[in-house]
Amino acid sequence: MLLRVLGIACITSAARVEVQADATTAEVREIDFALISAAADGNATEVKRLLDKGADATAKTKEGETALHTAGISGDAAVVRLLVEAGADVHARVTAQRGLRMPPLAWFVYGLHLEGARALQEAGADLNLVFDREDGKQLTVLDVASGLASGHELVRGA
Ligand SMILES: *[C@@H]1O[C@H](CO)[C@@H](O)[C@H](O)[C@H]1NC(C)=O
Repeated sequence: MLLRVLGIACITSAARVEVQADATTAEVREIDFALISAAADGNATEVKRLLDKGADATAKTKEGETALHTAGISGDAAVVRLLVEAGADVHARVTAQRGLRMPPLAWFVYGLHLEGARALQEAGADLNLVFDREDGKQLTVLDVASGLASGHELVRGA
């Protein structure tokens, strides 16, 4: 009888721990997703608030997009600096097939966000990092930038 009660107590407390662990994981994912969204919005106040609350600057969506990538949607330089200070990887790559292995800087350059791009470069982002084009050829952000300037997208090795 006692063993049975102890057994139930153990199962109950194990279940409670599991639920807590799940809740913690879900909470972290939620705050990290909020960070990725706030970065996309270019809301530095919210990005700072979430980082202060413990959001992970290196968190990725299942496509491999980090907050530093989505920051390239709005291109805010202050958001870049906050994320870099919080440990974001300037060379993180999108992992989804259609993501073309793009590093954050590619999102900024395609978005013509030069101030944010400069902040990334100051944080060590490599202008010569090669990523993919939809046709399978390869290019760098410098190729994209010179292509945008000349009206033609240049291709590595073409
Ligand atoms: C940015 O986030 C803050 C909360 O941190 C919010 O109060 C504010 O409205 C947001 N700004 C914009 C432009 O959405």
